[in-house]
Amino acid sequence: MPDYIDWFVNRDKQYQGFLKMLARETPKTLMLVEAPAEMGKTWLIQRIRHYCNENDIPAMHVDFRDRRAYDYLSLVRTARDQIGEQYFNNLTATINNFTGVNITLSNANTGSSGGVSVAGGAVNAQDIAGRDVIKDNQFYIQADSDMQRRAAEIKINDSFFACLTELLKAKKAVAFLFDSYEEVTTEAENWLNDNLLLKMRESQLEKAIVIIAGRKVPQLGESAKAIMAKTGLDLFTEEHVKEYIVNRRKIEGLDLVTVFKTSRGFPGLLAKMADAAGMGNKSDEEWL
Ligand SMILES: Nc1ncnc2c1ncn2[C@@H]1O[C@H](COP(=O)(O)OP(=O)(O)OP(=O)(O)O)[C@@H](O)[C@H]1O
Ligand SMILES: [Mg+2]
Repeated sequence: MPDYIDWFVNRDKQYQGFLKMLARETPKTLMLVEAPAEMGKTWLIQRIRHYCNENDIPAMHVDFRDRRAYDYLSLVRTARDQIGEQYFNNLTATINNFTGVNITLSNANTGSSGGVSVAGGAVNAQDIAGRDVIKDNQFYIQADSDMQRRAAEIKINDSFFACLTELLKAKKAVAFLFDSYEEVTTEAENWLNDNLLLKMRESQLEKAIVIIAGRKVPQLGESAKAIMAKTGLDLFTEEHVKEYIVNRRKIEGLDLVTVFKTSRGFPGLLAKMADAAGMGNKSDEEWL
């Protein structure tokens, strides 16, 4: 099991908040977690992602620090691939329409292809990735003018949200987790503001949950207040430090009061102190 499950302490407020959002015990559907470096944003997001994986909650997870050039197209493709491409055949067909490959979907049950049919001569067998899934050709949008490009963008976004709306009917929730928001690209920020967050604000995406963590988070106006919960992350208390060092890291013999006072409950520093203490436990290799 990864460290962030075995060694995780604290963050009950945010974690319980997420569970409440899932259970729809609150009108909030968007959580913003703003905190400085090494305070535990990524660990919280990973913890929540792990919960989603374990509980059949489809999730999209993007860390903007991964330096991919996110724009609307790469975001909807990433969402589709992580959430489950079988739910997004119409989206993929729409994308392929604008990127040069001609595939149509039919509702008729056509035997082994399970309702997916291929039209036109330009499609190879590999365009159908597996049973019931259309393969994305991974090309760029072909458009002669900005108008055409804009039209493609609207159609692709519409198609993405139509697929998502269908999926939401069948699932308890779908989670969108965004980390390192301070590194968001302008294009991704625009997509979030003009599409995902806008639809959330207008209550068009019932059961969708968004969590955005970063050293900086989006500044949303009054209209987002009803659905938005903003939180920071606190330093660990002495109890958390004890729990972390003794029960999670299983390190013995440390003066916990000093560790707490020296680290001030700062998660990143505490982890490094535990790592350093752990190193001392290992006996040196003989040749040294
Ligand atoms: N809830 C937690 N329980 C135990 N350890 C934690 C927790 N949160 C953070 N840590 C420790 O602190 C380190 C830094 O946390 P993390 O990477 O989540 O910070 P961050 O807020 O995402 O920082 P950055 O702004 O640089 O992305 C982690 O590698 C981990 O060792
Ligand atoms: Mg981080």
